[in-house]
This record gives sequence, C-alpha cells and structure tokens, in this order.
Amino acid sequence: MDVCWNFLLSLFIIWTRPYGAVTQELKLEPMNSYVLRDSDVGFRAMVQGSWVIMTWFVKETQVLTVRAPAEVIPSSDLYSARICSTEGPNCVDFTMHNVTRDQAGPVTCNVQGPYKPQTAQLHVQESGTVSIPGGNVTAIQDQLVEFQCVTTSWFPVPSVSWSQNDHAVNSSLYNTSSTAEGEVFTSTSTLKIQAVSNTQVECIATLPALKTPKSSFVFMQIAPKPTDWTVLIAVVVSFGGCALLVLFVVGIIFCYRRRKEKMPIYQNEMKRVTTESQSSPRADEQRNGHVNPSYVPEDHTRVTPNLFLSVQNNLTIGRVMKIQTENMDSNTISTASDSSTVKHRHATIV
Ligand SMILES: *[C@@H]1O[C@H](CO)[C@@H](O)[C@H](O)[C@H]1NC(C)=O
Ligand SMILES: *[C@@H]1O[C@H](CO)[C@@H](O)[C@H](O)[C@H]1NC(C)=O
Ligand SMILES: *[C@@H]1O[C@H](CO)[C@@H](O)[C@H](O)[C@H]1NC(C)=O
Ligand SMILES: *[C@@H]1O[C@H](CO)[C@@H](O)[C@H](O)[C@H]1NC(C)=O
Repeated sequence: MDVCWNFLLSLFIIWTRPYGAVTQELKLEPMNSYVLRDSDVGFRAMVQGSWVIMTWFVKETQVLTVRAPAEVIPSSDLYSARICSTEGPNCVDFTMHNVTRDQAGPVTCNVQGPYKPQTAQLHVQESGTVSIPGGNVTAIQDQLVEFQCVTTSWFPVPSVSWSQNDHAVNSSLYNTSSTAEGEVFTSTSTLKIQAVSNTQVECIATLPALKTPKSSFVFMQIAPKPTDWTVLIAVVVSFGGCALLVLFVVGIIFCYRRRKEKMPIYQNEMKRVTTESQSSPRADEQRNGHVNPSYVPEDHTRVTPNLFLSVQNNLTIGRVMKIQTENMDSNTISTASDSSTVKHRHATIV
C-alpha cells in the first residue's frame, strides 16, 4: 500500500510541476579536491539549459567570470577557465594555478539565473621529506631491532606505514607521533621488528594529494650469532677435568695393583734362591765360579762298554741331551758345554 501511495504522490508532483519555473541543475566536480601546494587544481561546472553569466569564488572572493558563449574574465593569472573541449557549451573547466595554503577552503560556482550555487572543498597539502636517520642496520639473528622514521615539513600529518621487502608491516609493530612546527608537522615513527632475515625496511609517508607516496628505505643485514666461547670453554674444561680425574684414578689403581703383585714375586724369588742354595751346592759353586763344561754328574753318565760305539755314542748323546735338558731347567749348563761334554766322553771310552 505504501509503495502504491508513494507512486501516486510522485505522479501528482510531476504533473503539477509548472514548466520553466523549476530550478535548473548545476553540477560541480569534484566536490572535494586534494592538491599539493604550488600545483594546479581544476573544477568542472556542468550547466543544464542555457546560461549567460557564470562566476567563480574562492573562499569569499570572486576570482573569475565567464560570459557565454566563451568570454573568460579572470581576476589574475592564478585563475583560468575555458569551455570544455568534449562536453560542449554547457560545460566549463575552471583552473587554479600554483595554489597556496591560503586558498584552501570552499570553491563556489554560481550561474546567473534559476541555478543553485555549488560549493566544493579545496584541500591544499604539503609533502616534506622522509628519512630513516639510523641508516643501514646490522642485527644479530632474533634480535629486536628498532627503526625510526622521521617525516619533516608535512601538512597535514601524513599517514606513515612500514614495509619489509615490499610487504606491509602489521601496524601493531609501529607507533607514530607528530609535533606541529609552525604550519607544518614533523612525525616520528618507531618500528620494532625481530631480525629474521636480510630485508629492505621501508618507511612510507603519504597524503591524499600525493599520487605516489614518499618513502625512504634502509637495509637490515643479519649477522650470525657470535659463538659462545664461554660455553665451549666450559664444556672443554669439564670434559678435560673428567678425563684427568679418570686418568688419575686409573693410575692410582694401576700403581696399587703393581705394588701388591710385586711383593709376593719378590718374596717367592727370595725363597727359591735360598732353597736352591741349600739343596744343591753345585748351584752355589757355579754361581761363585766359572762353568765347567766337562763336568757331568757321575750318576747320570754311567755307560756300559759292551755296547757298540755308535750305539753307545748315540745313547750317550741322548743321555747327555737328557742331562742337558734337565740342567737347562735349572739354568746351570749352556749348550756350548754339551758338545764339549760329548767329545770328552767319547775320548775317555776309546
Ligand atoms: C607557478 O609557479 C611556477 C614556478 O613555481 C612559475 O614558473 C609559474 O609561472 C607560476 N604560474 C603562475 C600562473 O603564476
Ligand atoms: C645501505 O646498504 C645498501 C646495500 O647494501 C647500499 O647500497 C647503501 O648505500 C647503504 N646505505 C647507507 C646509508 O650506507
Ligand atoms: C596484526 O597483529 C595483531 C596482533 O599481533 C593481530 O591480531 C592482527 O591480526 C595482525 N593483523 C594482520 C593484518 O596481520
Ligand atoms: C607504542 O606506544 C605504546 C604506548 O606508548 C607502547 O606501549 C608500545 O610498546 C609502542 N609500540 C611500539 C612498536 O613502539
């Protein structure tokens, strides 16, 4: 029902509208303009129907008049206007040259006749410099690194952001504060990031009037973590200490055991020497004097003359050898003495 009523009301308004008495349309574009100081800014007015006089105001001052079809009367060189090249006689381009901060504010187009004046807003901005005073940075892996970016002589306060290798840095990682210096602002942005890899760190300042943001960048180089010599030394020292201790203990055990073993050996030796000297005086003799190669104990070399020489000889040799081995055991007769013994024995029989 509401829709139906609205439709009928609209029809009624259109039908009752008296032709010619209605306000003609005047369009102004853009309604907001951001421009850098000392640059040019343009506004376009489009007029519906036929018109004769158009006037332009910057703030409260009338700065330019256009009389149809194409007569332009500027107040100074700083303002100009012309009929749009493509849109035809109902379109006017108005240009302000070398704009100043003082000109910022309302820009109004007024057309004489049944037209409602249109007002746009002019914003004059200033871009200054961007710098990272700290310059290139060498950081240790995982270190928290602080970067400072200073923007000077900007109006208004620019929006400052950071990027790392062309990737925007999360805004939670930086803070920006500004101070007014005369008619411009100086900002300081502080970025805190962890050093992970070699990166290009860029500070970007921008304003709506800037087509391309202004930026400054530095390089962050990662230095390898310095070797912790204290740890290394501690490890080496403790290992060395342990090894020395072990060596020391092993040494003590070894020496102790050697001493323990040596005692019985020495005692045994003593005992043996004593018994030998008691049981066989021969050993004593030999110790005191020279070895007698021809000496053979009687009981060991009793031979029978009936036997053939060769056999006897053989036997004798065998016996002597036996004796020799027996004697060898007690370390009394040398091998050289045996051959002499054999020869001597042989001669005696013959
Ligand atoms: C605008 O400024 C430039 C230099 O800043 C100057 O050359 C030019 O003549 C100026 N234009 C006007 C219309 O004053
Ligand atoms: C920073 O490092 C880059 C590349 O390593 C070098 O080109 C540049 O000159 C350095 N800047 C400064 C201020 O030292
Ligand atoms: C930025 O960091 C905050 C907190 O560390 C996190 O909640 C947020 O999602 C991050 N934003 C982006 C775009 O990564
Ligand atoms: C930003 O400022 C706040 C408060 O001054 C502080 O707590 C925070 O740590 C700062 N962040 C950075 C990245 O400096």
